[in-house]
Amino acid sequence: TMVKRVAIIGAGSCGLPAIKCCLDEGLEPTCFEQNDDIGGLWKFHDETIEGRASIYKSLTINTSKEMMTFSDFPIPEDYPNYMHNTQVMDYFRAYAKHFGLLSYICFKTTVLNVTKQPDFSVTGQWNVVTESSGKKESSVFDAVLVCTGHHVEPHLPLSFFPGKLSIGRQKVVMIGLGNSGADITVDLSHTTKKIFLSTRSGSWVLNRVSDNGYPLDVTYFTRFRNVIRHVTPLCLLNRWGENKLNSRFNHTNYGLKPSHRFLSKYPIVGDDLPNGIISGRIIVKPNVKEFTETSVIFEDGTKEDNIDAVIFATGYSFSFPFLEESVIQIKNNHISLYKYVFPPFLEKPTLAIIGLLQPLGAIMPIAELQARGATRVFKGLIKLPPEDVMMADIIQKIKENEKRYVPSQHINLQVQYVEYMDEISSFSGVKPNLLFLFLRDPKLAWEVFFGPCTPIQFRLMGPGKWDGAREAILCQRKRIIKATKTREPPNTREEDPLSLGFMFLKTLWFLAFFMAIFVYL
Ligand SMILES: *[C@@H]1O[C@H](CO)[C@@H](O)[C@H](O)[C@H]1NC(C)=O
Ligand SMILES: *[C@@H]1O[C@H](CO)[C@@H](O)[C@H](O)[C@H]1NC(C)=O
Ligand SMILES: *[C@@H]1O[C@H](CO)[C@@H](O)[C@H](O)[C@H]1NC(C)=O
Repeated sequence: TMVKRVAIIGAGSCGLPAIKCCLDEGLEPTCFEQNDDIGGLWKFHDETIEGRASIYKSLTINTSKEMMTFSDFPIPEDYPNYMHNTQVMDYFRAYAKHFGLLSYICFKTTVLNVTKQPDFSVTGQWNVVTESSGKKESSVFDAVLVCTGHHVEPHLPLSFFPGKLSIGRQKVVMIGLGNSGADITVDLSHTTKKIFLSTRSGSWVLNRVSDNGYPLDVTYFTRFRNVIRHVTPLCLLNRWGENKLNSRFNHTNYGLKPSHRFLSKYPIVGDDLPNGIISGRIIVKPNVKEFTETSVIFEDGTKEDNIDAVIFATGYSFSFPFLEESVIQIKNNHISLYKYVFPPFLEKPTLAIIGLLQPLGAIMPIAELQARGATRVFKGLIKLPPEDVMMADIIQKIKENEKRYVPSQHINLQVQYVEYMDEISSFSGVKPNLLFLFLRDPKLAWEVFFGPCTPIQFRLMGPGKWDGAREAILCQRKRIIKATKTREPPNTREEDPLSLGFMFLKTLWFLAFFMAIFVYL
């Protein structure tokens, strides 16, 4: 049987590229989106709707534009490197418009149930029940792409005991030092009298602006560094990372130092957090022991009275209420998926989960690569290995992660950006062949290897190759700089570090320095 009709659940950052991948492969996508707009999580709404996550109003994304771009539609050069959430939405809209994706989306339509057709083992077909303005409808699809992400249900610690808290904006306690917790704390700290940031384990804190002012991920997520990382002992990497972060601010003295090493858990991106702490607007506290009527007692015995509000930034969990247990089982926030995409126990590989992982890096290009692989699996162009091989791979990954990271809620969703991009792209047959590239186009190969591992690399060869990819990769540094160098600094003569005069001056300086020491002694 030929796979033709594909149901896509969700039109967010993973659903949009999924629609496009279906079109590229000649499939017929129908995308169901419960909101009245695209963007999913990135679509800001003021009101809280159960089962629907939304970002906060001030959110600026923590991955840079070159690393989060969809691979054949580079983010325009005048967009900032770190975009505000409204600009992320603008980009999604431009992407959807450019590739004509909107007409495939049924808005305000909720997927209630996805079940196997009675003859599933032959056809691999699914029955999808949807609801739109109170009307239920069911239709048959040849395949399903689940693009609902993992920010679905707020994860609240069970011990939470709120007492009675009035919502003033005076003294606030924030529970949880994740990316969102840190961000919202910094935001609120400008308007509250005091904000206490309670964290059980602390965290290493990164800055968006990295070496020489390049974005963090552009500097660190390169193939070259990935090789270095593999040949360097872990203890050295940890030491190097911790020293580097401590040289910006000493994590011990700011109350943030975690008990785990640098690479044992994802750090957070919190540019302004140390600024808030050094200005006394933010006060870091340990775990909460107890809430009383209006006060909070922390585990170190300190007590803060007259607290007006407590905010939980303790993350989300995922769930798929529309799928039967036999399709995917979730146990303790863990789900078995081959390559983080394919349920291993299906008679026919006609369902895939997109974007259910946590990279330290952007999820959009990863979702895109997953969808490129999944659509080709649906069409039978790529064969999944037997069930036991898939399970062995899944278990191996769990073991690696448990060895690598300290326990956390989503430990089994964590992947390394460059490694996973390479893994899923070689699965789909679109990983760039570096040796071939070095022989044919050394300039491009140089940038691919030493430059940032941007998603556009996966359009250089294989199915879905894009002719604009080479040019787009060679211009990526230009696009990065263009967004910050909005004023041409006066033409000061920059010293050539290798010029004779400059070396002479440097030598003189060293001589003077050692003489000064000598005189002093
Ligand atoms: C989905 O359909 C199946 C089979 O008809 C049924 O057993 C199940 O209860 C339904 N689930 C939901 C959430 O409606
Ligand atoms: C960015 O924030 C998300 C959401 O909190 C997080 O999962 C991710 O690890 C962060 N990325 C980086 C590079 O820190
Ligand atoms: C940070 O400060 C502590 C003292 O509070 C000190 O023992 C430690 O050496 C400092 N770390 C660095 C990297 O300077």
